[in-house]
Amino acid sequence: MSEDTLSPFPEGWYFVTTAKSLRKAKLIQKAWMGLQIVAWCDDRGRSSVAESVCPHLGSELGPAAGGRVRDGCLVCPFHGYEFDIAGQCVATPFAPPPRTAKLRVFETREVLGMIFAWWGIDGRPPQWSLPEDPPAGADWCELRFQTLRFRGHPQETSENAVDMAHLRYVHGYGNVGRVGAVTLDGAHLLSSFDFKRNQSVVGITNLTFDVSATAHVVGLGYSFVEFHERSIGMDGRLWVLATPVDGTLIDLVLVSQLRRIRNPKRPIVGLRFLPPALRTETMNWLMLYFQKHDVMQDVVVWSRKRYRSRPSLCRSDGEIGMYRRYCRQFYPVPEDSTRRRVANRSAGYESAEP
Ligand code: FES
Ligand SMILES: [Fe+2]
Repeated sequence: MSEDTLSPFPEGWYFVTTAKSLRKAKLIQKAWMGLQIVAWCDDRGRSSVAESVCPHLGSELGPAAGGRVRDGCLVCPFHGYEFDIAGQCVATPFAPPPRTAKLRVFETREVLGMIFAWWGIDGRPPQWSLPEDPPAGADWCELRFQTLRFRGHPQETSENAVDMAHLRYVHGYGNVGRVGAVTLDGAHLLSSFDFKRNQSVVGITNLTFDVSATAHVVGLGYSFVEFHERSIGMDGRLWVLATPVDGTLIDLVLVSQLRRIRNPKRPIVGLRFLPPALRTETMNWLMLYFQKHDVMQDVVVWSRKRYRSRPSLCRSDGEIGMYRRYCRQFYPVPEDSTRRRVANRSAGYESAEP
């Protein structure tokens, strides 16, 4: 990796799909972290994510190749090997299953029905956990999703959480102010800030939001923002889930969820006449629309920018340097390359690193 290049697949938890879409489709295949993967679920709703390569003779396993799920097992379209949720081959049509036939499976974790899989450098097991599910239940509306695909990198998109200057400059937010210090705890970065945001709605009226937000960055594939909007009295959550597709493109999955708006402190366009559930659903749809609108402003820059490992920072850049140091943990040096380097060093092939 040269100095001004980021490795495209940093270690972490990355979004795959939702439990709801998996239950509906039974089996999906997609490009993820430079691989083709399949995800499927059994009748008990347990899901599995694996590389889409059969250990027998290498067939793809997704629906396009003829892969299917039968009795909770993934069945290869080529010779009918069957794999259980742990990826182990448990049956073949004409002979006992070979013990060595196992899929490359990725550990999974579900947060409010969103399925994430762990990508470990050199196959390392999970080094940290995603946060527990935030409180949900009847008071919260359904999650809404939107996916954007563009040329980018998850470190660049997650940097937004600490880049206060761009909030003003790119998004035009007013009264941007950091609240407390950015804190780091292993893979968990916490950044709180206030801002005001104006949005004209269909050119007729202007909505002003007065927002307090806390961004939790938990690795580079999972950013979760909790916010409170003061003028309406509205609480919500946004997720920004960056997932490398193929080493160049990323999928940025935007997710929005609002708490039921029962007694808005002020009128919200024409929404106050709607029953609270419908009012919240409509507002959630609007929030996702606003989120996409703002992210598209970033995408114009992200998709064309170059990574600068030694940026010329100014005082208003705040914690970008701190964020960059936090990110280093997601590019661990594989153990055997460390061993090789030490061996080379003692053999005089390589000078010691600073
Ligand atoms: S290639 Fe999958 S069963 Fe033969
Ligand atoms: Fe942004």
